[in-house]
Amino acid sequence: MKEYIFSQVPVDVPHLQTKHRKICTPIPSPSTIETIKNCWKYEPYSMNNQLPIVWDKAIDYQIFDNAGNCWIDFTSTIFVANVGHAHPLVCDAILKNTSKGLLNAYYYPTDLRAELTKLLIEITPEKLNKVLLLTTGSESTEAAIKMMKIFGLKNHNKSMIIGLENSFHGKTMGAQMAGGKIKDKFWIGYQHPEMIHIPYPYPWVLEEKQISGSEFFNMSMRQLAKKGFDLSKVAGFITEPYQGWCAAFLPCDYVQEMRKWCDRNYALLAIDEVQSGFGRTGKLFAFEHFGIEPDIICCAKGISSSLPLSAVITGEEIIGDEGSFNSTHGGNPLAVAASIASINVLLNDQLVDESDRKGKLLHSHLLDWQSERPDYITRIYTRGLLSGIFVNNPLTPGDNILFVDKIIERAMQKGLISIRTSSGTLKIGPPLTIPDEALIEGVQVLKESLEECL
Ligand SMILES: Cc1ncc(COP(=O)(O)O)c(C=O)c1O
Repeated sequence: MKEYIFSQVPVDVPHLQTKHRKICTPIPSPSTIETIKNCWKYEPYSMNNQLPIVWDKAIDYQIFDNAGNCWIDFTSTIFVANVGHAHPLVCDAILKNTSKGLLNAYYYPTDLRAELTKLLIEITPEKLNKVLLLTTGSESTEAAIKMMKIFGLKNHNKSMIIGLENSFHGKTMGAQMAGGKIKDKFWIGYQHPEMIHIPYPYPWVLEEKQISGSEFFNMSMRQLAKKGFDLSKVAGFITEPYQGWCAAFLPCDYVQEMRKWCDRNYALLAIDEVQSGFGRTGKLFAFEHFGIEPDIICCAKGISSSLPLSAVITGEEIIGDEGSFNSTHGGNPLAVAASIASINVLLNDQLVDESDRKGKLLHSHLLDWQSERPDYITRIYTRGLLSGIFVNNPLTPGDNILFVDKIIERAMQKGLISIRTSSGTLKIGPPLTIPDEALIEGVQVLKESLEECL
């Protein structure tokens, strides 16, 4: 068995207290060790590589253990708690519907589903008029792939799906096949011949090649044709607006060219907004940055800021009347109630604009950091409250993943929880409600942590 990434042995660290964080025990706290050990003992290894903090409660932008420690949250769990953890109106909605006594309704009609689906249609492009509620992000991308294939086969005899190399759409089989992380797919044993991938237009690749996004897209399509793929069989594309590990967005002209290609060739465009939706990037949905409208939107995570819920939003002609699009827990009443409350908070409290404003503030502080430490901080991408920071350790080249793990472990000891990307990047994604002061304090903790890890 591989070694644990983070130690479960409590370390004596300086105690500290600010308005936003508190460390008052060794970390991890000795009183939480038994829980950590039991989780690590009974759950698979892949569940044992997160920071060893036992979450007792999470409120707004802070996470608490049961020993009196409090962390600033730079994760939103993992892009879920967009309106803040345990927002009072989200909690009220869950409690109200729990006490009423409707915990599951399969897909019999409910007032709650009628309300949420109408709301989702109102906040997405006009041409999208159908919503399928599911439970997880992976389910939503699987359903999108299925819809594109059924629509393509039925209407144009097409069923090929194109994804982007190194992209992520979830961990179930279809989602992973559409995703582009080759090393994670060894267990599948083969690549579906009709699920193919084109290179991701990373900004540094475009810079190096001195090529625009649209040229890069057309070049990728020409290369596919050269390899013998029949492009007349392409039913659709699925893509994230940015890749999670680095937060580098697709160039606008790349997506616009993809959209034009789809329109010319009767193919569909599905945007995976599972991570990027609901205000994360300073727009309600990240595709709005590109000036295009997708045919299918997959969303989850921030849709409820809490309970598991996902949605596929599309047009009636696309979802059609074939295929079995429903599931046991899809549109669970409590999750739906939480989602309605969460989306209303997002809209009423102008959190999308706040995400944009705070993102600019965050970026300026990160740029200052980069100018102080240009050898260590090599690239920064920020949109809204989402940042990817490329970290380099010139003293020990090649061990950036380990180095970043050390930085986030040190930050944990100083009262900040940040995302583990396992890719040599730091990633920041706090709840959109985080106060400016806590945001800046969190960046300062990251800076100190890097210095202390040198
Ligand atoms: C872009 C994207 N798509 C799909 C998924 C899968 O979502 P879930 O973990 O809810 O299945 C994720 C999860 O991180 C994601 O970031």
